[in-house]
Amino acid sequence: MLVSAKDMLVKAKAGHYAVGQFNINNLEWTKSVLQTAQELNSPVILGVSEGAGKYMTGFKTVAAMVRAMDECLGITVPVALHLDHGTYDGCYGCIKAGFTSIMFDGSHYPIAENIEKTRELVAVAHGLGLSIEAEVGAIGGEEDGVIGMGECADPDECKAIADLGVDMLAAGIGNIHGQYPANWAGLSFETLDAVQKKTGIMPLVLHGGTGIPDDMIKKAIDLGVSKINVNTECQLSFAAATRKYVEAGKDLEGKGFDPRKLLAPGAEAIKDTVKEKMELFGSVGKA
Ligand code: 13P
Repeated sequence: MLVSAKDMLVKAKAGHYAVGQFNINNLEWTKSVLQTAQELNSPVILGVSEGAGKYMTGFKTVAAMVRAMDECLGITVPVALHLDHGTYDGCYGCIKAGFTSIMFDGSHYPIAENIEKTRELVAVAHGLGLSIEAEVGAIGGEEDGVIGMGECADPDECKAIADLGVDMLAAGIGNIHGQYPANWAGLSFETLDAVQKKTGIMPLVLHGGTGIPDDMIKKAIDLGVSKINVNTECQLSFAAATRKYVEAGKDLEGKGFDPRKLLAPGAEAIKDTVKEKMELFGSVGKA
């Protein structure tokens, strides 16, 4: 059931668990994530970066595929179709295409400009029943060519953005997209605590969910994180399972080259990763 992310996140914040955002890249990804959410009776957010949207030939294709798949698979758990790290133009593109949620990432603008653009998009998104995420303090690492330095957010700036009425707020707390380097300093719980104190009931978003140790994830949820984004980890599971299949020569046995067979182990591996994360985040049975 396609819905905005608002209600599922309000429930998560009140219930002290987090909803997973799993980024999708193609049909297999989408199907694996939707089937796992349904099987575990968990709410879920499908994240689409601008690069992934382009890869899938456009946001219109993505929205049509997700809507049709949601219906054809008989998905009854709440599913939000969410733009990840959207530009100003990307947000309008997704609104037009029929997404149910957007993220405007204005973290690279001066704060006054981030506030003005976020304010405008909050009014447009809410007018159409969509939820909206904003960002303060860049997330580190590289995702789809967007490179963030990984700064910690200023809690007062977070409050200024939260006061605009966004539905969820991504605050940089030392988190990084992609795999964490060996010398990573860990999440800044002082920053998270300060942001949570300033923003109250606002559901906070933790980007860069791949590779964060379980105890840090649990502590972040305790300190007000209600949405956790995972992308790279599903890509790694998919790649490893596909490699194993090919290295075992299975694609050369019978009709093992059939894409429905070749991509099956990877699709199963994505399901396992999503299941593991939903159990860790505490969203199982919360649909
Ligand atoms: P990872 O790729 O590190 O899991 O981060 C995903 C993310 O934050 C998407 O916005």
